[in-house]
Amino acid sequence: MSINPHLIAPSVLAADFARLYDEIQMVNNSDADWFHIDIMDGVFVPNISFGFPVLHAIAKYAKKPLDVHLMIVDPDRYLGLFKSSGADGITVHYEACTHLHRTLAAIKELGCRAGVALNPHTPVSLLKDVIRDIDLVCIMSVNPGFGGQKFIEQTYTKIKELRNLAAGVNDGLLIEIDGGVGVHNGGLLLEAGADVLVAGSNVFAASDPTDAILQLKKLRKGLQNV
Ligand code: DX5
Ligand code: ZN
Repeated sequence: MSINPHLIAPSVLAADFARLYDEIQMVNNSDADWFHIDIMDGVFVPNISFGFPVLHAIAKYAKKPLDVHLMIVDPDRYLGLFKSSGADGITVHYEACTHLHRTLAAIKELGCRAGVALNPHTPVSLLKDVIRDIDLVCIMSVNPGFGGQKFIEQTYTKIKELRNLAAGVNDGLLIEIDGGVGVHNGGLLLEAGADVLVAGSNVFAASDPTDAILQLKKLRKGLQNV
């Protein structure tokens, strides 16, 4: 179980792109820790989000680290470009990497935090032989591709399994949860062992997004907002 304070990473996918500058400033001035940036290629997932020009624009004004989640095939081709476009952390999908160990080394070589995302159907146990090489595991709690989907309950079990897998081998591993996260389930996710909560629609569609971030940040393990 994590002992450090948890991190909140609002997912820009749910922002109003016509007001992107204002949305970035809202996150800058909030209690959020990172920007979560979803890159979708229309091949790995059935949706296309945005690419380098938008990432550059976000990086220009963001005052917090950019946590870039690549939902793309063959991510190795673009790692350098994501780094030079402003990524601080790069997360690739287990299902998209034939040579995951090599990909993780390449991300670290760039000086970025190396992350691996797992689709809901992918067991945590498949990370056994690379767990010591990973800085962050993103457990997808929805099928990737869209914001605003229903949280998958099996996620709690996967968090505990992953924490056990990393115990004694990679105790500093960050466990991130992505999809359908909000104050209604954030406390239980932290209790299970999560470190980073990604939230898109539950932040940007809230009547007061700054307060929605604060409520997520105020969560404590096993407790709803107090
Ligand atoms: C889904 C993305 C998520 C998404 C989360 O493929 O990886 O980051 O933006 O959105 P919500 O919080 O609305 O489920
Ligand atoms: Zn994401």
